Amino acid sequence: MHFSTKGLALLSALFVLAGPVYADDHVGDAAQGEKVFKKCKACHDVGEGAKDKTGPVLNDVIGRVAGTFEGHKYSDSMIAAGEKGLVWNQEEIADYIEDPTGFLRKYLDDSKAKSKMTLKVKKEDERKDVAAYVATFSPAAPAAAAE
Ligand code: HEC
Repeated sequence: MHFSTKGLALLSALFVLAGPVYADDHVGDAAQGEKVFKKCKACHDVGEGAKDKTGPVLNDVIGRVAGTFEGHKYSDSMIAAGEKGLVWNQEEIADYIEDPTGFLRKYLDDSKAKSKMTLKVKKEDERKDVAAYVATFSPAAPAAAAE
């Protein structure tokens, strides 16, 4: 990629304006996320004809009340989180997959809560990318497209 000196100066000025909050904020990249999704495929299906597996189908998961994909057998904790008001967006998904059980314990304020999902994704960029990829299968969710 080529930047003119002027362009670079402008870019750094923009970063300064954006401030520390956004300076190193990685925006989820759906194309990268498709690769990360290989980790999810063992348990989750997306796309046309997606089937319920160990994990629920992730089509239209953005805007879904947690634990409500029809016919899927969720943990009591996931159902409780949905009842408490958890609705999936990209940010919550990225948080959840860092530590599914830890996320539900915090959300429910219950140290005995437990998610049936066992995978943990450590790298923050990978979490944001895969959440962006999953969001591409939620065409009806306006917030997903805006990111
Ligand atoms: C080992 C199997 C497994 C893997 C791998 C896995 N999941 Fe899950 N996932 C589950 C199960 C099981 C649930 C339901 C959890 C519960 O009921 O507590 C779930 C639930 C979810 C939910 C909540 C959906 C809903 O309907 O409420 C999201 C979002 C999710 N997974 C995303 C992912 C992503 C993204 C990946 C890849 C980074 C991934 N999962 C990898 C098994 C898995």
